[in-house]
Amino acid sequence: MDNPFIFRAYKTKELFCDRQKELEQLISNCISGADTTLIAQRRIGKTGLIYRLFDEIKTQKLPIVPIYVDIFATRTLEDLVKVISEAIMESLPPKSNIGKKFLIFIKSLRPVITYDPLTSAPQIQLTLQNEEERQQTLKGLLTFLDNQNEKILLAIDEFQQIREYPEKNVEALLRTIIQKLNDVTFLYCGSKRHMMLDIFSGERNPFYRSTEFLNLQKIDHTVYSDFIKHNFTAAGKNIDDDAVRYILDWTKAHTYFTQRLCHTAFNLAGQKVDTSLVKEAAAQILQSDAVVFGQYQQLLTSGQWNLLIAIAKEGEVEQISARQFLRKHHLGNPSSVNRTLTSLIEKNLVDENISDGKTQYSINDVFFSRWLAEKY
Ligand SMILES: Nc1ncnc2c1ncn2[C@@H]1O[C@H](COP(=O)(O)OP(=O)(O)O)[C@@H](O)[C@H]1O
Ligand SMILES: [Mg+2]
Repeated sequence: MDNPFIFRAYKTKELFCDRQKELEQLISNCISGADTTLIAQRRIGKTGLIYRLFDEIKTQKLPIVPIYVDIFATRTLEDLVKVISEAIMESLPPKSNIGKKFLIFIKSLRPVITYDPLTSAPQIQLTLQNEEERQQTLKGLLTFLDNQNEKILLAIDEFQQIREYPEKNVEALLRTIIQKLNDVTFLYCGSKRHMMLDIFSGERNPFYRSTEFLNLQKIDHTVYSDFIKHNFTAAGKNIDDDAVRYILDWTKAHTYFTQRLCHTAFNLAGQKVDTSLVKEAAAQILQSDAVVFGQYQQLLTSGQWNLLIAIAKEGEVEQISARQFLRKHHLGNPSSVNRTLTSLIEKNLVDENISDGKTQYSINDVFFSRWLAEKY
């Protein structure tokens, strides 16, 4: 039997745990045409949820055409135009009416279209001479979608990336175009909290309060336990309750890490799974990831490294500049530690989580955190 615990791309709803409430809200927003902002820490399951939504739209035969575009690798407005046009082309069935019309539209821009030999995904090379042309093309693409007499859902993943473009007016440009659309609903997704919040709730910014927020927390413990148990049992592997508890505790129920630990444990398992087998799986993962963790140290200052160790040892820290925490871990003065913290957040090594009004800092990579706490 195939391993039911996946930690790469979304496969099927059977291998996807829960997110029922979030899914319902997203569907309802799609139907009513409300744009949504989805902000949550890395690897918690944002992209997976988008694909789960697309799957549901298909299964329920909802009259919505979903398009997914990941803009993580884009560096300029020109890149953005390119990846959006590729995403549209890839999502629209080439033989459908709308697919054919898009081909005519994109060909009017005289592109060079090639196909990736491995994935057969289209690659579109546009020659856009100047900024004016890029802006017009972006507008043309989105307006094209709006004119199809179909409801379109455009999910833009890692949306905060638009803040990195050298062009300074991208937010205003996008907002101006989007405001005029009637049939395209947007799902903006991102993991950099500060930037995403500033884009969508910064009073002076073009997207200010233009969307509904969707909060994605960790999967509920009980629901995740049942999911884990069910998947082991269905494969004829009996897992005891202590082992399941150990898994969710060791991974802090963080989705990616839970999936990966379960995946490895599943591979090692015979007909019985107990805590000692789970520990063996955990050790195997740390051993293989240690290569990467060790390299981090070279890239960081000793202050950064020491603060990481301190946070790892605590698991979660609420008050980074609290005297007790600083003294216990010999960290120096509060203001410099705060600066170090900011730099670690910027490097995506430390997460700032806010739930129930409380802020907590933890190491983004749970395995890295376990490794640091164990080794130092
Ligand atoms: N609800 C879920 N049940 C099972 N696996 C999930 C779930 N959500 C996400 N995953 C898996 O966890 C990993 C990380 O999720 P991903 O969606 O890529 O996170 P993000 O986009 O927030 O960084 C992926 O391999 C994904 O397939
Ligand atoms: Mg993602």
